[in-house]
Amino acid sequence: MSRNRAKAEMGSAQIFLLCLSFFFSLSCAEISTRVGINYGLLGNNLPSPSKSVKLIQLLKANRVKLYEPNPEILKALSGKKLQASVMVPNQLITSISSNQTLSDQWVETNIVPYYPKTLIRYLLVGNEILSFYSDQDKVTWHNLVPAMRRIRASLKSHHIRKVKVGTPLAMDVLESSFPPSNGTFRSDVAESVVRPLLQFINRTKSFFFLDVYPYFVWSQNYQTVNLDYALFKSTNVTYTDPKSGLVYRNMLDQMLDAVFFAVDRLGFPETRLWICETGWPNAGDIDQIGANIYNAATYNRNLVKRLTTKPAIGTPARPGLALPAFIFALYNENLKGGPGTERHWGLFYPNRSNVYPIDLSGGVSDYSGYPPLPKPENNEPYRGKIWCVVAKGANLTDLGSALGYACGQGNGTCDPIQPGKECNKPDSLVWHASYAFSSYWAQFRSSGGTCYFNGLAVQTTRDPSYGHCKFPSVTL
Ligand SMILES: *[C@@H]1O[C@H](CO)[C@@H](O)[C@H](O)[C@H]1NC(C)=O
Ligand SMILES: *[C@@H]1O[C@H](CO)[C@@H](O)[C@H](O)[C@H]1NC(C)=O
Ligand SMILES: *[C@@H]1O[C@H](CO)[C@@H](O)[C@H](O)[C@H]1NC(C)=O
Ligand SMILES: *[C@@H]1O[C@H](CO)[C@@H](O)[C@H](O)[C@H]1NC(C)=O
Ligand SMILES: *[C@@H]1O[C@H](CO)[C@@H](O)[C@H](O)[C@H]1NC(C)=O
Ligand SMILES: *[C@@H]1O[C@H](CO)[C@@H](O)[C@H](O)[C@H]1NC(C)=O
Ligand SMILES: *[C@@H]1O[C@H](CO)[C@@H](O)[C@H](O)[C@H]1NC(C)=O
Repeated sequence: MSRNRAKAEMGSAQIFLLCLSFFFSLSCAEISTRVGINYGLLGNNLPSPSKSVKLIQLLKANRVKLYEPNPEILKALSGKKLQASVMVPNQLITSISSNQTLSDQWVETNIVPYYPKTLIRYLLVGNEILSFYSDQDKVTWHNLVPAMRRIRASLKSHHIRKVKVGTPLAMDVLESSFPPSNGTFRSDVAESVVRPLLQFINRTKSFFFLDVYPYFVWSQNYQTVNLDYALFKSTNVTYTDPKSGLVYRNMLDQMLDAVFFAVDRLGFPETRLWICETGWPNAGDIDQIGANIYNAATYNRNLVKRLTTKPAIGTPARPGLALPAFIFALYNENLKGGPGTERHWGLFYPNRSNVYPIDLSGGVSDYSGYPPLPKPENNEPYRGKIWCVVAKGANLTDLGSALGYACGQGNGTCDPIQPGKECNKPDSLVWHASYAFSSYWAQFRSSGGTCYFNGLAVQTTRDPSYGHCKFPSVTL
């Protein structure tokens, strides 16, 4: 461990020298390429803010991003050498965009009491609001940049000059991202939202904040995309962009360059980019591929190594550009809905054990002195039948409502458990709910239905069928 610490300190010394050589040109803080962490709170079992701050320090992160201006966390960060990024909730964007008083009040309540003792540096207005899955309507899209201007004016009126205003967007803000040189913003937002956003970023020297997940691209295209390419592991797998001639050696660069090309297309080649979320899930459901500790550790460790290398590596289209980043996420968050991967992005379990060791400062680049990672078991897709049954310890009251919901969705979903039918016996809630979950999931998986039911359901490869009662299954 002491050797690792010495390495980390050498890292800071290098940053210091780099700053000297830049001779006061840019603020040195911006050159620090230590990787930050997203601190999400969607769990009912998460450690306290002060314990969480200790974990963030243990990771040697220098930045932390919050999804809400949580007062306890902002207090716990007071006096710490951790830059904080705070988010304005999506629902406030429209009202703030047309009301300076409201914007001022928001900043007075959520920023002013903590600044400057808490090193608040980034205020992100909304979260992925241009994405289609988000519940935001197009009115909100068009109020985004006006709301950002108001928030910035509020900060200015309090003489808060160190806080940059931005907004994180997901890759689906592009209508084309392949080949990277064809990167183009979606036509429904390019002129009306993204152009004014890039103008705002340029004028205020802020960043284009991007959530970018090679995991999603790989897992949806595992037959064609090499896993090692997504994990920064390959030495020989390359992709050459036929138009630009640029050669890619990993999926992340390819995705980032698609955005850089799109930004260039709108005429803002100086735009700085910030990787606002990236990461790899450490576990998932049986029907999800490649979500495991080995891949998660490999992706995140290689990411840190790459982003903290000095001089900066950049991407093929932006060689030498420093890319600040926040990894997603601090914890596995058990209250997130959707597929199992959603609850397994953490570097830590809620009991504060790490999922795998990682040093976000780049001070450790060789993990061979640590316990070996568990071998990946699901890098090939599962082939066979899967059922969806009641999870151990499920709350029976909640199970009753979930059973009602599952039976109410489909088309004959629960006929076989009706009195006198083949799956009615044993006449128990757990048995009936297991049938209903399997039947629901078999009908709706292809249209996005999940085997989750707020944690009441779990996938299994063991056929629960009994006697004449055959449970519907998903076949992969
Ligand atoms: C603006 O916001 C303030 C503070 O919430 C509120 O009192 C006021 O009514 C709002 N003005 C308008 C025009 O909605
Ligand atoms: C380039 O992007 C456009 C949309 O912006 C799309 O129509 C076209 O198919 C893409 N070209 C290639 C080669 O993928
Ligand atoms: C803003 O845009 C101008 C014109 O393209 C460019 O010269 C300048 O470097 C940009 N500034 C920033 C901070 O991106
Ligand atoms: C890359 O190298 C590995 C191991 O040397 C080899 O198994 C693989 O086939 C190579 N892939 C390509 C695309 O050349
Ligand atoms: C913490 O939780 C994880 C996952 O449930 C478990 O594997 C690990 O053993 C726990 N660690 C401790 C110290 O209890
Ligand atoms: C089950 O959930 C209900 C609310 O849905 C709650 O009131 C009850 O306390 C829970 N029971 C147990 C044993 O946790
Ligand atoms: C119910 O299922 C039957 C047979 O699969 C199908 O023909 C019918 O359209 C379905 N009805 C609804 C409302 O989905």
